[in-house]
Amino acid sequence: MRRFLFSLLGTTLVFADPLTYDTNPLGTVDKPLILRTYMPDPGLDPAVLANHGKASKSPKYNPSKGQDVSGEYGMIQVVPAAIGVNHGPALSYIFDTTECRILYAWQGGFLDLFPHWGDEQKGGRRSFDYGARLVGNLFYLAQPESRPKPTFLGYKLSKNGTPTFRFKLGDQEVSQTVKPTNEEFSFELTTVSRNSKEESSFKTEIIRGKLLSKHQGFERDLKIKTASIDAGEKVFGAYGCIACHSTDGSKGHGPSLKGLFGTQRPLIDGSDILADATYIRESIMSPNAKTAQGFPPNYMPPYDLKKEEVDSLVLYIESLSSSNPE
Ligand code: HEC
Repeated sequence: MRRFLFSLLGTTLVFADPLTYDTNPLGTVDKPLILRTYMPDPGLDPAVLANHGKASKSPKYNPSKGQDVSGEYGMIQVVPAAIGVNHGPALSYIFDTTECRILYAWQGGFLDLFPHWGDEQKGGRRSFDYGARLVGNLFYLAQPESRPKPTFLGYKLSKNGTPTFRFKLGDQEVSQTVKPTNEEFSFELTTVSRNSKEESSFKTEIIRGKLLSKHQGFERDLKIKTASIDAGEKVFGAYGCIACHSTDGSKGHGPSLKGLFGTQRPLIDGSDILADATYIRESIMSPNAKTAQGFPPNYMPPYDLKKEEVDSLVLYIESLSSSNPE
């Protein structure tokens, strides 16, 4: 996947992988991608962010050192200094270093940081509203809880890069680790607590949620007037399809689209269907209507695209069919 993306650098650098802040591929179940930035608030109860609003600040973070440094961030609209973790389309979640808890979790995609690195059409990055946007299906939102004011102690990484978050809650020293599960809309949370008398407890629970809202990131202004293969390739890059679908047959988070068009497509329910324009269109507009065999549902983010954009994508995917050498 990485090699595939880098081979595109010459031509499509800015569009290479808009689901993350640069050309980094998404994380995987085994090896997550961690990102610390301004996280969006997808509708949290303000009481969940109580400590943000009480002039409490969050520790300053130095990206080049990769750690907290002295000083603090003040309060702003988005959730500052939260830690975003992505296990590929299987699971993304935000751990907040002020409230010291998981604020929300979603599946499919990760974060759209498009304004961070600029717009090819308009040039330059935005100077406002550059907080990340969610991409995918939100299924868990933290609820208000009465608990002592926490203190973040940092996080450590396992060998493959899975973070364990450490914080103090009253006289408890707590550490929490999150893992994806095989079930949809859920994650596994392991909590280890130890109090000042050295008494400790250990708990692993499956947190199950349900579809709360769908997010497609920032809208792109691609100015497509008539559908064409070239326009389709552009849409494919701009909306991050490329983060999950290769066009050269190589394995990714989603099926490769090379050679798909015009073949019989096995589905998860055991049936199969002709991968024609109707099927491709439906796969893009309502990804969960039918699920390709070998891939779980909810891994593909929702897209609300313009007609010309979808038409272009269909033409582009058709151009990748095996009867078509290009
Ligand atoms: C975060 C990963 C992800 C992104 C981003 C994504 N998809 Fe998908 N897509 C999947 C997965 C996983 C499947 C297979 C499961 C299913 O059918 O829903 C899929 C299925 C499809 C299929 C059916 C493929 C088949 O072999 O039957 C098409 C067509 C498709 N996606 C097109 C797109 C387009 C076009 C975009 C961008 C607008 C896009 N996808 C973005 C993950 C993704």
